[in-house]
Amino acid sequence: MSILHEKLDALFKPRSVAVIGASRKPGKIGYTILKNIIDYGFKGKIYPVNPAATEILGHKAYPSVLDIPDEVDMAVIAIPADKVLDVAEQCGKKGVKVLVVITSGFGEVGNKEAEEKLVEIARKYGMRILGPNIFGIAYTPSRLNATFGPPELREGSIAFISQSGALGIALMGWTYMEEIGLSAVVSMGNMADLDVAEVSEYFAEDENTRVITIYLEGLKPGTGKRFIEIMRKVSLKKPVIVIKAGRSKRGAMAVASHTGSLAGADQVYDAAFKQSGVLRAYTVEEMFDWARAFAYQPVPKGERTIIITNGGGVGVLATDAAEEYGVPLLVPSEELKSKLRETMPWFGSPRNPVDLTGQAGVENYVKALEVAYNSDEVDNIIVLYCRTAILDPLELAKAIVEVANKHADKGKPLLAGLVGGRDVYEAIRYLNRNKIPAYPSPERAVSSLATMLRYKRFREKLLKEHESKA
Ligand code: COA
Repeated sequence: MSILHEKLDALFKPRSVAVIGASRKPGKIGYTILKNIIDYGFKGKIYPVNPAATEILGHKAYPSVLDIPDEVDMAVIAIPADKVLDVAEQCGKKGVKVLVVITSGFGEVGNKEAEEKLVEIARKYGMRILGPNIFGIAYTPSRLNATFGPPELREGSIAFISQSGALGIALMGWTYMEEIGLSAVVSMGNMADLDVAEVSEYFAEDENTRVITIYLEGLKPGTGKRFIEIMRKVSLKKPVIVIKAGRSKRGAMAVASHTGSLAGADQVYDAAFKQSGVLRAYTVEEMFDWARAFAYQPVPKGERTIIITNGGGVGVLATDAAEEYGVPLLVPSEELKSKLRETMPWFGSPRNPVDLTGQAGVENYVKALEVAYNSDEVDNIIVLYCRTAILDPLELAKAIVEVANKHADKGKPLLAGLVGGRDVYEAIRYLNRNKIPAYPSPERAVSSLATMLRYKRFREKLLKEHESKA
């Protein structure tokens, strides 16, 4: 295990957390953070620090971090900026390993000197800093929600790193409502010390994270080359999906005044992402669509994709999307076609897309999926469904999950697109809960598989480069 990993364990798996500035007053940031830590069921010890209180939310409060009769791994700091440096010094003396500095009023408003001083203190004592100017950190495997965002988070394997505070908080709530499971949420703020690349490096080795998502506004000047180097290594281990804000000229100006980071020409970022294998999404929806695919299904081993549908129209839409996004559709052999023919009415089509027709019932889908899973010609499966009165979408969803589980050892990714609006929502939810990435349109399923294939290709290219160097 790397030194970075050990050090950052204090951030994600702390044995004890002090909340400095834990307030007695509901509604204040220091109160909310403490309440979230307690309510989400943090497994370690919790120490509120507030010189004016003896007890907060049922926990004994200490006048300063130095008075805590125990080791403190992580200190969350939520007191005004002018008091932070003294408290950081105390944390250093106490042997705190990592500071999570919520407080605003540092580099982002031109107070660079205080921010540099904070980093100096941290270096002196060997502490790491997350922030300042952040909404906190959450890591679901530790049941740690040290944020002033929503109290609830769904457990899962997607790590989410956000350079925007408000958007990060909003997406915490959004992922909860959308039933998207997260391993972590990390607010980056001013990145005085820890930055996006280092945190990603931690997740590359984290056994609870399968995919890393990042909302990025900009890198700090002079860190571009390092970003590419680190992200190439990270991408080799886990997929990284990024949304980079400030694509437009006006957007770039807004970024500059928001976090003070370098938005730069968009093409430069685009090139950096391509070089490092980082997958660029253009909307939040797209980012989490792709992330769910990686979180639930294996990375494709091959390119040959089959589409199974009960509607010719959605099959054609998926075919168009496949061509546009770069998903090669397999041309079934005569042998495969004859096996597929047995799964459908005589007027169906065993060509790809495989059209089971509007008359298809659960058994037709199950049989066709069995053929696809068992065929050496097929690497990836997209299953599509159009709402018909003769096939209940939830029944179909249950059958799909059953077949997919039965063939999990084959390592073939399966993604689903269900069209039918409100009528198919429950089925989509059922599939996602059971780790089949499912979407309300064929295009979103195809786009997610296309991204998995892009990742597969990049990884293979990198591995080859490594081999030829070795
Ligand atoms: N050690 C511990 N506790 C201390 C303290 C010290 N040295 N000095 C003060 N406190 C206590 C206060 O008594 C108060 O507790 P109380 O409410 O029970 O009296 C609590 O810590 C908070 O201090 P207060 O002075 O009331 O500050 P505040 O809550 O008004 O503001 C911040 C503190 C950090 C929230 C504020 O400075 C800030 O930065 N807000 C912006 C945060 C933000 O948006 N971050 C970025 C998000 S993306």
